[in-house]
Amino acid sequence: MDFSKVELELLQKAKMYKKKIVLPESTDKRVLNAVSYITNNDICDIILIGKKEDIVKKIKEYSVDLDINKIKIVDNLADNKRQEYINTLYELRKNKNVDYETAKRLLEDETYYAAMMVYKHDADGMVSGAIHSTADTLRPALQIVKTKENIKSVSSFFLMNTKKKQYGQDGTFIFADCGLIPNPTSEQLKDIAISSANSFKLLLNKEPKVAFLSYSTYGSAKGEEIDKIKNAIKLLEEENVDFDFDGELQLDAALEKDVAALKAPSSKIAGQANILIFPNLDAGNIGYKLVQRFSDAVALGPITQGLKYPVNDLSRGCKTQDIIGVIAITCIQAFNN
Ligand code: ACO
Repeated sequence: MDFSKVELELLQKAKMYKKKIVLPESTDKRVLNAVSYITNNDICDIILIGKKEDIVKKIKEYSVDLDINKIKIVDNLADNKRQEYINTLYELRKNKNVDYETAKRLLEDETYYAAMMVYKHDADGMVSGAIHSTADTLRPALQIVKTKENIKSVSSFFLMNTKKKQYGQDGTFIFADCGLIPNPTSEQLKDIAISSANSFKLLLNKEPKVAFLSYSTYGSAKGEEIDKIKNAIKLLEEENVDFDFDGELQLDAALEKDVAALKAPSSKIAGQANILIFPNLDAGNIGYKLVQRFSDAVALGPITQGLKYPVNDLSRGCKTQDIIGVIAITCIQAFNN
């Protein structure tokens, strides 16, 4: 596997923490190959949800180099914790139109079961989404695991590892939110910026430089969308955060020193941004995929931020290497909970 320097560092870090990660998509070929790499390199302990015979069959069918005795398999329909989980889900959601029978049915779903394992500390984190949509992957976590204290909105980011070393942190960036909040309010944009800066420090141990992106730089255009960003910046200023941020900035002003000197000469961020906050999910989702496809960048994510315990999504177009990277990030998030 052709890992970048950043990915290798993440794997090395994850390996020190010895975490337990649950994967509900246990018969997907890419997932099983990722489990093979993780297990054979002793990165973390893996729990697969499903029937042992189905998983063994797929391991053989796909010729995956995986010793079944090195992983734990939990059959969510026969597990001895199933009853306890049903009771807990019912208690947690009974005021949200979830009766006992519904709780029982929901836990027949592997994704709900895995989210409950994380909530109950039977796993340290969860990774899913190679088969399921983002909504189906994250809804159980939003309902069961819930947000960290002091965080109102869970958001998501991509760790983008590009070959353009002259930009960002030697070519590495956080892009947010590219996967979760369709049309963030100013308050949510502020939360996305704070969570992204924390994620950047956690994963890269470098100084975050946050740019709020727009089609306008410093009032070069006017409109409601720009007012939303200006307001987010005002809210962030009131929080006294320990990282630099600026906006609204066009992408070229955020990245290029020459353009920054022309369009935003007084900015501490313009020309050096390493965290790009997109104004909405359309821009973020399209933006990360453009960079990934056109510049052959590695895009790890969408990684969620703001949940009490880590539950991470994958793109359905992900490759085995992406799954390995997201598992490593999940271990690091779990250690720093
Ligand atoms: N932060 C915190 N809590 C949240 C958030 C959030 N951002 N969003 C929803 N919730 C909570 C709600 O308050 C609710 O809690 P409650 O049931 O205890 O009251 C619970 O989660 C469920 O919320 P709903 O709004 O009913 O859930 P819904 O499923 O409709 O929405 C979702 C959540 C799935 C994340 C939605 O925002 C969504 O679909 N986002 C877009 C996902 C997507 O398609 N991304 C693009 C693809 S990603 C890619 O390309 C890799």
